[in-house]
Amino acid sequence: MAATSSSSPIFFLTIMIIFLFQSSNAAYNVNVMSYGAKPDGKTDSTQPFLKAWSSACKSTNPTTIYVPKGTFLIKAVVFGGPCKSRIVFKIDGTLVAPSNYWNLGNSGYWILFSKVARVSIYGGSINARGSGFWACRRGGRSCPAGARLHPAAQTPMAFTYNRLTGVTISGSTIMTGDDCISLSQGSKNVWIEQIGCGPGHGISIGSLGDYQNEEGVQNITVTSSVFTKTQNGVRIKSWARASNGYARNIVFRNLIMKNVGNPIIIDQNYCPDKKGCPHQSSGVKISGVTYRNIKGTSATPVAMSFDCLSSNPCSGIKLQDIKLTYNGKSSSSYCKNAHGSSSGTVIPRSCLQI
Ligand SMILES: *[C@@H]1O[C@H](CO)[C@@H](O)[C@H](O)[C@H]1NC(C)=O
Repeated sequence: MAATSSSSPIFFLTIMIIFLFQSSNAAYNVNVMSYGAKPDGKTDSTQPFLKAWSSACKSTNPTTIYVPKGTFLIKAVVFGGPCKSRIVFKIDGTLVAPSNYWNLGNSGYWILFSKVARVSIYGGSINARGSGFWACRRGGRSCPAGARLHPAAQTPMAFTYNRLTGVTISGSTIMTGDDCISLSQGSKNVWIEQIGCGPGHGISIGSLGDYQNEEGVQNITVTSSVFTKTQNGVRIKSWARASNGYARNIVFRNLIMKNVGNPIIIDQNYCPDKKGCPHQSSGVKISGVTYRNIKGTSATPVAMSFDCLSSNPCSGIKLQDIKLTYNGKSSSSYCKNAHGSSSGTVIPRSCLQI
C-alpha cells in the first residue's frame, strides 16, 4: 500500500508533462516568412513555401502553415504527399503567379496538391493572372502549356488536386484564366465552401477519363460560393475514352452565378478545342449528382447542360430550387442521355429523363 501511494505523484507528474508537451505541439505553426518568403509580390517565394510544406509534411503533429498579409509570388509548384499529419494553410495574403506566364513553363498547373490527405486551406486571395495566357492563346501564338503536351494539361489552373482525401478549401478568392479549382482522379471527401471564383473557368471535377485505369472521384461538396463572369460554374467533364473511373456522390448547393457562361454543366464528351480528342464511349460513370439552391444569371441561353453518352448515361441527377435567368428571361436546358429527378422550382425546366 505504502509503495503504491508514494509512486502515484510521480505517475501523475509524468502524465502532466506528456500532456503539456503534446498540447504545445498540437498548436505547431510555421510561418512562410521564417523560411524566407517575401510579401512584396516580386521575390520568388516558391522555395520558402515548399520548405514550409516539407517541414509540415514531415511533422507527426498537425501543423498550420501561416501566410500573412502581403503578396507572395509563387511559380508552378507541387505540394506533394503523403504527409504524416493534418496540414492547414491559413492564408491572410495573396498568392500570385508570375505575370509573365512563360515562367510557369509547361507544367500544366500552377498549384498542385498531390497525394495528400487531410489538408485544409482557409482564406486567401489566389490570383493566377491567367488572362495573359489566354490572350496569348486567343492571339494564335505559341504559348506554354497551351501546347497541351497531355490532353488534360491546361494552364494556369489555380488549384489542382490529384488523388487526395479529406480536403477542405474555405473562404478563398480565386482568379485565374483556367479552372479556379479542379479535382482530378482519386479525389475523395472534399469540402469546398465560401469560394469567390472569377475570372476563370469555374470549379471543375475532371477532366476525368485521362486513363483507362483511374481512380474515381466521390463525396465532393461545393457550397456557399459565388461565381462571377466565369466561363463555367460547376462542371463535371470527362474525355470520351474507355475508363473505369467514375464521379459519384457530388453535391453543388447554395451557389450564386453572376453572368456565368455555363452555370451547370456535365460534359461527358469533353473536347476543348474540338480536335484531337478521343470520341470513344466514355467509361467514366457519372451518378448521384445533386444541384440545390443555385441562383443567378447565365451569360448564355443554355444555363443547364447535361451532355452524356448513350453508352454510359448519367444517372441520379437531382435538381432542387434552381433559378438561372438569361437576359432577364428564363434560360433553357439541354439533356442528352441524362437521368434524374427535380423538385421545388427549377428554372430552366428540367429536361432529365426518369
Ligand atoms: C464525405 O466528406 C466529408 C468531408 O467533406 C466527410 O466529413 C464525410 O465523412 C465524408 N463521408 C463519407 C461517407 O465518407
